Amino acid sequence: MFEVLPQLAPDPILGLSAAFKQDSNPRKIDLGVGVYKDEQGNTPIVSAVAKASKRLLEQETSKTYITPQGVQGFIDNMLGLILGHKSPVLMADRAAAVQAPGGCGALRILAELLTRVNKDLTVWVSDPTWANHIPLIGNAGLKIKTYPYYDKATASVKFDEMIDTLSTIPQTDVVLFHGCCHNPTGGDMTKEQWRAVLDVTQQQGFLPFFDIAYQGFGDGLEEDAYAVRLFAEALPEIIIAASCSKNFGLYRERVGLAAIITQSTQTRQIAQSQIQSVARGIYSMPPSYGGALVEIILSDDALKQEWISEVDDMRTRMQSLRGMLVSALSKKGANKDFSFVNQQKGMFSYLCISPDQVQQMRDDHSVYFVDSSRVNIAGINHENVDRLADALISVL
Ligand code: LMR
Repeated sequence: MFEVLPQLAPDPILGLSAAFKQDSNPRKIDLGVGVYKDEQGNTPIVSAVAKASKRLLEQETSKTYITPQGVQGFIDNMLGLILGHKSPVLMADRAAAVQAPGGCGALRILAELLTRVNKDLTVWVSDPTWANHIPLIGNAGLKIKTYPYYDKATASVKFDEMIDTLSTIPQTDVVLFHGCCHNPTGGDMTKEQWRAVLDVTQQQGFLPFFDIAYQGFGDGLEEDAYAVRLFAEALPEIIIAASCSKNFGLYRERVGLAAIITQSTQTRQIAQSQIQSVARGIYSMPPSYGGALVEIILSDDALKQEWISEVDDMRTRMQSLRGMLVSALSKKGANKDFSFVNQQKGMFSYLCISPDQVQQMRDDHSVYFVDSSRVNIAGINHENVDRLADALISVL
């Protein structure tokens, strides 16, 4: 039966890990998949997560089914983390939500929910966007269009062009925004720019769809929620996909949240019933383990503080790695100014080099990153930064 199907190329992001593993060069550098790494190149378990895990093991008495919406304590705490604990939206009981199997699961079930509203609906994504946005949303049957976002030539957000395109999008469409730490570019909008985007959104009436997968990795947990909170408080409806993969380091446990902010409590009840039925129809219910860990952490003041300071440490370390790369390149006399890397936010930097140069980095120097020129900043360390800078200079 399956011989009729074509053999597919490896995934543009996850496939890099396999290629990296096969490379026998002992000095190879992995800047591919977006996972946090320490100075030794390891991805340790966040200590608040390790403690919560121990506690859960002692407390858990059953492995019976949970519900399609997931762990309620997880959902309530995550809504507070994203929207703010005193959010008027939460006070007004306007948020429907389910625990989802990772940020990917959240994106997909929201896309499936959108097809229930209109199977021909169009979702606009930034150009460029995270490579998996298009299959996750497009495979649900929705149409995809792009709006201009990032200019490789100037390494900055194409703000005016973006606003021009957003100003043509009809009320019936959906626009996907990255809440913070834009993936792949690391190019975020200022607060003033977000307010201008909100104005266009209000004028056009399209539905904003926020993907917030890196809360805490840009400027801080509260600061990174600025855009989502701004839109949630100003508009009758927005939808949100959030991930706990990065900030809780729960990658393989698949923990995320899909939320729908509705106009009224009555619509919230409709949305809640629909999103649960979407989940039931695909995977029945999310895995409970990761959500239970997040619930334990966010419900316990001491553990929560410990987690916040670990997120702060990851963020400040990544910021210092940006500075380290920029200064190595400038000291070595790179003929391109890379100081824009210091302005980009989060886990990724778009180096704004060509796909051929990216390929040369891989073939000639065993440095692995995504074809778009996206590097995982957390893969840089004191031991490899000079080699990385030399390799970059040689392909420029
Ligand atoms: C990434 O962007 O590298 C991560 O979100 C991992 C993935 O699933 O692509």
